[in-house]
Amino acid sequence: MKALVLAGGRGTRLRPLTHTSAKQLVPVANKPVLYYGLEAIRDAGITSVGIIIGDTGADIREAVGDGSQFGLDVTYIPQEAPLGLAHCVLIAQEFLGQEPFVMYLGDNFLVGGISGLVDAFRVGGYDAQILLTKVDEPQFFGVAELGPQNEIIALQEKPAHPRSDLAIVGVYSFSPAIHEAVRAIKPSARGELEITEAIQWLIENGYSVHSHMVTGYWKDTGRLKDILECNRIVLELIEPDVRGTVDGLSEITGRVILEPGAVVENSILRGPIVVGADTKVTSSYIGPFTSIGSNCLLQNSEIEYSIVLDGSSVHGVSRLAHSLIGRNVEVSCAAGVPNTHQLMVGDHSQIQVRA
Ligand code: G1P
Repeated sequence: MKALVLAGGRGTRLRPLTHTSAKQLVPVANKPVLYYGLEAIRDAGITSVGIIIGDTGADIREAVGDGSQFGLDVTYIPQEAPLGLAHCVLIAQEFLGQEPFVMYLGDNFLVGGISGLVDAFRVGGYDAQILLTKVDEPQFFGVAELGPQNEIIALQEKPAHPRSDLAIVGVYSFSPAIHEAVRAIKPSARGELEITEAIQWLIENGYSVHSHMVTGYWKDTGRLKDILECNRIVLELIEPDVRGTVDGLSEITGRVILEPGAVVENSILRGPIVVGADTKVTSSYIGPFTSIGSNCLLQNSEIEYSIVLDGSSVHGVSRLAHSLIGRNVEVSCAAGVPNTHQLMVGDHSQIQVRA
């Protein structure tokens, strides 16, 4: 069995971060989202992985390399434009050959791994297996309509009027039958070859398509609030590990990871939190569900329920929450200038300031 990981796409909903990096590399608890998927694939006993890359391919290649750091053997498959998930299968055909495979969307986050699902697929001998989960806004996903025996009646991609609240999760298992399906379908209204339509084609042509309910936590991390929620879920599972230094004036409660070289002075840290290597925190408060990258500086500031990427500083700012701060960003207090906000912000940024 092989795996096909999709790490192309434009990540428009995570701009401006995705102007300079891939959405699959946004960190959750200081580890790129993509790494969780690659580890789950490895843990399921799969070693041969094809990764579809697009405009941000250089970043993905740099982060994943030949895959040996994960115990994987990675082959990169460039896609000239984001032409759809089924298009990814089309261009990966030579890599996949006649082997069954798991297709994993690189921005999807699934707690609990995929070993059980892969085993169920192997034992069941299906042509395709999809995962479903209940969501609040099914219109933003592929949606499945099930019959009385939980058999799949129909699948629709982002329907305006969903017939159920069961979204298709971005982890699929396929037999080689899918290759015929992706060649048979036509581009959708949004100009993409939809995997949802390819699976619908399998159903209509008598192939066995099985659905499996996801009981654990799943998120498509395409939006800010989803990334922050994923960060919360992962931080809820961490074990404390203080390898940095904390002075006598500081107070640390709850589960906190301080990576080597991190320094905490005169500060309050309430876990779960992760603070990256060589980051300095002075006279500050870090509240629950916050991940601070490496080489950051936090001074006279308060922050909670947020993610700060490597090399950024927050100076004299109280209080940041529900924020995602990119790399090498400076956030500081506009000292001496009453009642003004001074901003120099990249394209497609989102700023919410208090009136
Ligand atoms: C894709 C699929 C959709 C699925 C979703 C899961 O959507 O087309 O069927 O429910 O992934 O993350 P996209 O992220 O391309 O909008």
